[in-house]
Amino acid sequence: MDIWHIRGGRRLEGVSFVQGSKNASLPILAASILAPLQCELHNVPQLRDVDAALRILRHLGCRAEQRGNEVYIDSTGLSGCSIPHHLMEEMRSSVIFMGALIARCGEARLSLPGGCQLGKRPIDLHVFALRQLGAEIEENGMEIQCFPSRLHGAEIFLPFPSVGATENTMLSACMAKGETVIHGAAREPEILALQDFLQTIGVHISGAGSDTIQIERGPMKKNVVSRIIPDRIVASTIACAAAATGGDVELRGIDPKQFSTVLHFLNKAGCDIMNNNRSVRVRSDGRLRAIGEVVTEPYPGFPTDAQPVLMAALLKAEGRSLIRETIFENRFRQVPELRRLGADISSSGQLAEIWGVDRLHGAAMTATDLRGGAAMIVAGLSADGETVICDDGHITRGYEHFDMRLRSLGADIYLEY
Ligand code: UD1
Repeated sequence: MDIWHIRGGRRLEGVSFVQGSKNASLPILAASILAPLQCELHNVPQLRDVDAALRILRHLGCRAEQRGNEVYIDSTGLSGCSIPHHLMEEMRSSVIFMGALIARCGEARLSLPGGCQLGKRPIDLHVFALRQLGAEIEENGMEIQCFPSRLHGAEIFLPFPSVGATENTMLSACMAKGETVIHGAAREPEILALQDFLQTIGVHISGAGSDTIQIERGPMKKNVVSRIIPDRIVASTIACAAAATGGDVELRGIDPKQFSTVLHFLNKAGCDIMNNNRSVRVRSDGRLRAIGEVVTEPYPGFPTDAQPVLMAALLKAEGRSLIRETIFENRFRQVPELRRLGADISSSGQLAEIWGVDRLHGAAMTATDLRGGAAMIVAGLSADGETVICDDGHITRGYEHFDMRLRSLGADIYLEY
């Protein structure tokens, strides 16, 4: 059990370099098995989810190790195409190995993935798209089996821009015969990052960032070096913490356009936002105001992953704020925990209502999921007195050395393992 101790009420001030992106790292780690490849990745965050992906790679017969923020993979010796349940259940992204394994081996056997309990999280769109590429997939309770199949290019229309389904389809299409076009693709920056990596290893792919992606097999490289993009959700979290504590923080190494919707609402709440291409400064005088209604949407809309941390920043914003969650059914699990701090917040169905209060007081909370846990940290930093967050390892799935990063900005926080 991780225990986060926070003594709140201190302004966050200073400069922070944003860590590498978890959600960009995981599909790229899966993509490293598409062909026999030696791959060096830079700026990979040290996280539990990255560790889980490396263990899957080793289980499949690859060499995979992380030294600091560098990861070295050699997938030439890949010798298996099945992933056991105990590795699949560690995170949702393990399902991305399905597309990569089918591409490399023509078959795969795995179980349903784990991850945060944010709702049903089915994988029907993944299966739908992979079947159109010719994969013969059978779902049997908790097990998914892809029988030996020859993949061919296809024109695929995704009815919803699922991030994971788009990534899985991109990966399988890389080794299919002929061209694939994905219509209705997700447009997140992490999809663009995956395209960049696939181009680096030799795939002919274009269109990522728009809703149509074209993919065709190309001559594959044997050695590549690549760099992971910065994490826009970690950047959003620190920006919200700066806003909530009346702080003044400059985030470096990140393109502010990638989380411009979050910055827009912080500005609406009364923060000064100063940005250029590679950094953004968030300055708050601590007197925030309510922001009307925020609705989560697929990119470029407001990201569902930043919803809980923005909620935490609004707990002391004068007036009434509304948050409408449209991506996941069950993403307000942090609400009852935040009420322990004295927050005036309620949720019903997909809508949460926040009435700003003058003060929050420290309390004990239990982290419910990754971003919900981060929201508790943001709220604890802006509460008077001591907050203790008990966490069964959710937060360290996505935030690298987060206690140290926040301490360097002046927070009084430490993590007891
Ligand atoms: C990814 C991110 C996650 C983020 C989410 C939405 C990673 C590792 N995770 O998750 O942090 O919150 O995007 O931006 O990148 N759905 C279906 N059927 C499917 C697939 C998805 O109904 O086959 C639904 C999901 O239940 C959910 C919605 O579509 O309600 C969005 O899911 P999706 O975009 O696939 O998210 P993930 O890839 O799981």
